[in-house]
Amino acid sequence: MTGTDTAVLREMRWWDIDSVLELERDLFPEDAWSRGMFWSELAHARGPGATRRYLVAQERDGDRIVGYAGLAAAGAESDGEAGPVADVQTIAVTRDHWGTGLGSRLLTELLKAATAFECAEVMLECRVDNVRAQKLYERFGFEIIGVRRGYYQPGNVDALVMRLTDPSTTVSPANPGGGNDNGVQGTEIHG
Ligand SMILES: CC(C)(COP(=O)(O)OP(=O)(O)OC[C@H]1O[C@@H](n2cnc3c(N)ncnc32)[C@H](O)[C@@H]1OP(=O)(O)O)[C@@H](O)C(=O)NCCC(=O)NCCS
Repeated sequence: MTGTDTAVLREMRWWDIDSVLELERDLFPEDAWSRGMFWSELAHARGPGATRRYLVAQERDGDRIVGYAGLAAAGAESDGEAGPVADVQTIAVTRDHWGTGLGSRLLTELLKAATAFECAEVMLECRVDNVRAQKLYERFGFEIIGVRRGYYQPGNVDALVMRLTDPSTTVSPANPGGGNDNGVQGTEIHG
């Protein structure tokens, strides 16, 4: 079965943090987020002034968390006309679900959240050596707009800065996993 078939997307809650941390340390061994960082993000994810949207993908059969993602909406642009800018803070899928379309589903939900936050654009940073993630972002229309030298420490790895303009018009690219999109990081970010 594909990720679409086997996992359900839902809001990340505090009780998911232990499971998410386990995946985080496996998938981002050099710069895993701390427990406190996830707590801090989730503290801004609820209520009328919420600026964050965090999701987990949970297997239908059982409790296992097999993916997660988060987005932050911050500050209106300086000219005051465009809406706030969103940042993909993190996105990750367990290795045994790679290539099943789950990453695409998570990203689709983040872009919906960016639209709900009325964001004019979505930004993210991605390690230059993370080709798989770059391809995912490019399929959604993200473009490389710059490089941040030595962004990821301690490995001193550069980050590509990628941008998607007007996420509200971005249609989820053909979902290779089939099915519809019925789902519902130091300080550097993973997304
Ligand atoms: C990046 C990441 C989130 C992608 O997740 P994913 O679930 O593999 O993403 P998808 O399945 O939606 O797409 C990945 C590829 O699988 C292909 N694919 C998706 N479903 C497929 C299916 N059912 N059969 C065959 N291929 C499929 C997609 O076409 C895509 O290929 P492409 O990149 O060559 O176009 C995942 O690899 C990951 O967690 N990596 C480690 C953490 C990380 O690097 N995060 C990003 C930080 S910037």
